[in-house]
Amino acid sequence: MRLLAIETSCDETAICIINFRKSDKEISSSFTIEKNLLISQIDIHREYGGVYPNVAKREHLKNLPILLEQAIGNENNFKKIDAIAVTNGPGLSPALWTGIEIAKKISREYNIPLYPINHMEGHIYASLMSKVNEDTFKINAPSLPSIALLISGGHTEIISITQNKKDINVSENKIENIYKYKKVGVTLDDAVGECFDKSARTLGLPYPGGPEISKLANLARKKTGVVREELRLPRPMLHSHDLNFSFSGLKTSVISKVERHKLEKSELEMFCMEFENAVTDVLSKKTREALYLYNAKSLIVGGGVSANTHIRKTLSDICEKDNLNIHLPEKNLSTDNAVMIAAMAFIKIQNNIKPLTQKEAVNLRADPNLSLEN
Ligand code: KG4
Ligand code: ZN
Repeated sequence: MRLLAIETSCDETAICIINFRKSDKEISSSFTIEKNLLISQIDIHREYGGVYPNVAKREHLKNLPILLEQAIGNENNFKKIDAIAVTNGPGLSPALWTGIEIAKKISREYNIPLYPINHMEGHIYASLMSKVNEDTFKINAPSLPSIALLISGGHTEIISITQNKKDINVSENKIENIYKYKKVGVTLDDAVGECFDKSARTLGLPYPGGPEISKLANLARKKTGVVREELRLPRPMLHSHDLNFSFSGLKTSVISKVERHKLEKSELEMFCMEFENAVTDVLSKKTREALYLYNAKSLIVGGGVSANTHIRKTLSDICEKDNLNIHLPEKNLSTDNAVMIAAMAFIKIQNNIKPLTQKEAVNLRADPNLSLEN
């Protein structure tokens, strides 16, 4: 079975084709990536210092036909595609619509079943993927109950994951079920990735700010010394006795520190480390509390910010100490991509979840606030 996945929720236009064996009785436990293509709009958005939805839409409209041609070749080859998966939310509405419209068109013209995919669930599955060999991946079922920390440019959430009681056809040797998600912590204002990006901008670093800050922070970690007292940053809501976050105060604090205390060039690396430490302190404390509160047996970390080496190491250390499994995405699957969307659709097919009916497919809409809770 060959499955085409399309992801256009933000600033990456991504398409992939995976294949796996499927008969009436059986479906393979792994899938192989045949094509994995992505055009990043980062250079374009860099000029503006962030993502503008209508610019993203314009770029997706330009890029999608190019990538489809590279992935499929001749239009006749659409006949060799057995299923399509497309992100229908959450994300930027104009951006989401571009992928949805093209997926609907292909589905209609070639009569191919269509699966709508939640972008955040895609991030969870990116973290559950592991390599069988070069291009072949399997999905590891997490030990339940589990906690997911989803950290990206648009989201900062703690999700409790339990077994879904819904009667889905479950067969042995397959991922047990599709899970039940409950949002137990959320940012009250900015997302953590947004805080990285906006703080980086204040520091004169290019978009996206996460990798830039991380690079400098890692240099500082190799040196001795500490940041001077006036440049210490707050750890917002560290003691709020709930699982929520707030990052807009941290961003504002970066702006005011930079304005008030002229940052020496040599201090930039140290200040980036202080920023990364502040973010990590808050993320790790709340995650630890959630793991404890929900009696979790595993931690799933997903979303673009999970590419951050310091955050990965800190959370891995916590899990190791508490003897919990941690599921982290491969670094190239941390940020937005189409493989995670394909992986989610693969699991749906494995669990006999039906695609949209023709009528549902016609009516499929972008849902910028699509929730994980079912
Ligand atoms: O998941 P993603 O690709 O897109 C959204 O769905 O938002 O996440 C993008 C975010 C950006 O804010 C970017 O700065 C951040 O992920 N990011 C990082 C790192 N790599 C990407 N943040 C911190 N450290 C990194 N290494
Ligand atoms: Zn994302």
